[in-house]
Amino acid sequence: MTTNRPVFLEVWRIRLPIPGVVSILHRVSGVLMILAIPVMAALLASALSGPQGFAAAAAFLAHPLVKLALLLLGWALLHHLFAGIRYLIIDMGFGVDRPSARKSAWTALSAALVVAVIGGGVLL
Ligand code: HEM
Repeated sequence: MTTNRPVFLEVWRIRLPIPGVVSILHRVSGVLMILAIPVMAALLASALSGPQGFAAAAAFLAHPLVKLALLLLGWALLHHLFAGIRYLIIDMGFGVDRPSARKSAWTALSAALVVAVIGGGVLL
């Protein structure tokens, strides 16, 4: 194995193609959802514990910063869903060529953003 491969570590000058951006965001969104599980479970437990616990959970969820976090989490789920379906389709051998891969990456990225903004506007 060669050991003198060029190394380019100027992260801010690396220009990822759009499928690369979607791929990184797919991983980030998966990790975000995993991290949210204990918080959501604690909120659910509190809400089900009685009227006081329910009021505490409702008050927590009404905070603007928490709403922002929920919007981010909603986007994470949507991005992960759309990008995940894209990967499953590509794994079946469809849309593997570069122009199609770019088009489907843009579609997944923008669909998640649009649905998250509309959903956030309606639900939050
Ligand atoms: C909503 C439906 C979902 C779909 C269609 C989906 C699809 C996928 C696919 C296809 C992969 C493999 C990606 C690859 O080949 O690199 C994946 C990875 C992963 N998923 Fe999901 N997923 C879904 C929901 C979730 C949820 C709810 C969570 C977390 C609570 C989650 C967490 C993860 C994580 C952590 C990975 C590994 C990410 C990585 O290593 O890049 N997924 N998902």
